[in-house]
Amino acid sequence: MGGIILTGDRPTGRLHLGHYAGSLRRRVELQNSGNFDELYFMIADVQALTDNFDRPQRVRQNVIEVALDWLSCGIDPSKASLFVQSYVTELTEMTIYFMNLVTVSRLERNPTVKSEIQMRQFERNIPAGFFCYPISQASDITAFKATVVPVGEDQAPMIEQTREIVHKFNSLYGEVLVMPNIMLPDNKACMRLPGTDGKAKMSKSLGNCIYLSDDRETVRQKIMSMFTDPTHIKITDPGKIEGNTVFTYLDAFCSDEHFERYLPEFACLDDLKEHYQKGGVGDVKIKKFLNNIIQETLEPIRQRRSEFEKDIPYVYEILKKGSDRAREKAGQTLYEMRSAMQINYFDDAELIRQQAEKYSGNE
Ligand code: TRP
Repeated sequence: MGGIILTGDRPTGRLHLGHYAGSLRRRVELQNSGNFDELYFMIADVQALTDNFDRPQRVRQNVIEVALDWLSCGIDPSKASLFVQSYVTELTEMTIYFMNLVTVSRLERNPTVKSEIQMRQFERNIPAGFFCYPISQASDITAFKATVVPVGEDQAPMIEQTREIVHKFNSLYGEVLVMPNIMLPDNKACMRLPGTDGKAKMSKSLGNCIYLSDDRETVRQKIMSMFTDPTHIKITDPGKIEGNTVFTYLDAFCSDEHFERYLPEFACLDDLKEHYQKGGVGDVKIKKFLNNIIQETLEPIRQRRSEFEKDIPYVYEILKKGSDRAREKAGQTLYEMRSAMQINYFDDAELIRQQAEKYSGNE
């Protein structure tokens, strides 16, 4: 009881099934569990700008897309604060103070930053803002005194960095910040859902995503052309499960009830896998099964989305209200930080009195 949740997404595109399996589904469960006092879901536009500063339109257009995706998955603005990062300017100030607590070499060792530097071939020409985004992410988390941060495993180095900053801040200035804990997806297949082409990750640039906002027919086509086992040519051939994208998706989405409903000739996923490996189960059959499950999962999301799409100004209002609440909370934390750091000059009557006394003999 009594925990505080914070997590967020960068507004650089529509959200896809990988986001859903890896985090959105979980967020809604956590929200509805009643186990948390406060929940904050952040649209990380400031962070998105660290590598899109030359494309502000991209970020601007996608803020509403992310909000719509969240709401359509069941994130409920009466239970959680949905907010926009840039609006909470307190976060920026906190980042500046945290910069004193982190070395350049530590940032260079951050595995996420490291691989992004390589991927983008930045070398020494990495923009300082991008280099420092783990510090800014520590502000996102600590400003809300989050106890639990539900994220994918790729974010683990960010939470680790945050924990180091919390430890350092608290031991230097006093116990102000709360130590956050990472919460990883519980199902292994959900940790990183591959793209429909079997590549390691769903990514917009690879064009291998199933979007939450895709219509029925688009989803069906994507599933029917999914990567399976290239050596499984005839139905009677034995098929492989490992690296077979359809089975990875089934691991992430299917339950025994789905078999009753859509594929009663098999009892459960293990049963289907066994038969597929022996031979005699065709790819079209497993794809149709997966399609039924994914359509069933996406249908309520699609319906809610179409309702919210009818009233876009209301969605912006939800974000504005959530941002106001987020600001208030971050403001409280920042106030405590400033006091602990002894930079609260004007509201500290004792400081003013002491300084006055120091000079009182000079008359
Ligand atoms: N880095 C996260 C991502 O790329 C987004 C993010 C920004 C975030 N600030 C956060 C996630 C704070 C959790 C907590 O998806």
